[in-house]
Amino acid sequence: AADIENDLDRVLVTEEQMHDRLAELAKQVDADYAGKDILLVGVLKGAVMVMADFVRHLQIDAPMDWMAVSSYGASTKSSGVVQIRKDLDTPLEGKHVLVVEDIIDSGLTLNWLLEHFETRGAASIEVLAALRKPDAMKVEIDAKYVGFDIPSDFVIGYGLDYAERYRGLRDVAVLAPHVYS
Ligand code: PRP
Ligand code: MN
Ligand code: MG
Repeated sequence: AADIENDLDRVLVTEEQMHDRLAELAKQVDADYAGKDILLVGVLKGAVMVMADFVRHLQIDAPMDWMAVSSYGASTKSSGVVQIRKDLDTPLEGKHVLVVEDIIDSGLTLNWLLEHFETRGAASIEVLAALRKPDAMKVEIDAKYVGFDIPSDFVIGYGLDYAERYRGLRDVAVLAPHVYS
């Protein structure tokens, strides 16, 4: 952990702040989805932590399924052209789908995914994101449940990686520039 500390610029959201916020959002989701056939859809890999924490705050019983997608293209992280690496096991037909994401950055991944899901016959589709970067969004994403709005710095931890590292860091932190420059 000592060497990880050295790679952090500053902590943006602590583990405790995230858990408190997810508990609040879970109360809203409990109320909004009472009596409805909900399906939580986590987007691998980043959403693993938020899904694990969020589902345990819920009072309603919520099945989860997982999708793995990857943007491809040249240099940018999210090209907006998305490839399905692992599809859902569950048909969406008639389900009230709540997509669970760690972060909305440019918004391109979710924009593609939501458009894709609309063709699959879900009864409703909403988004829960632990984090959102309002100043980085290139497309409008109407996320109903958002944990925290954060600045456009490169952040890691709580599922978020830099080259597959730091996902297990408990807090959300800004990556120190010396790591990637
Ligand atoms: C990250 C993050 C979101 C997406 C957000 O995933 O977990 O899924 O990027 O970026 P966007 O709003 O600009 O599209 P990534 O593609 O890095 O895969 P990962 O979840 O496996 O890390
Ligand atoms: Mn992701
Ligand atoms: Mg990533």
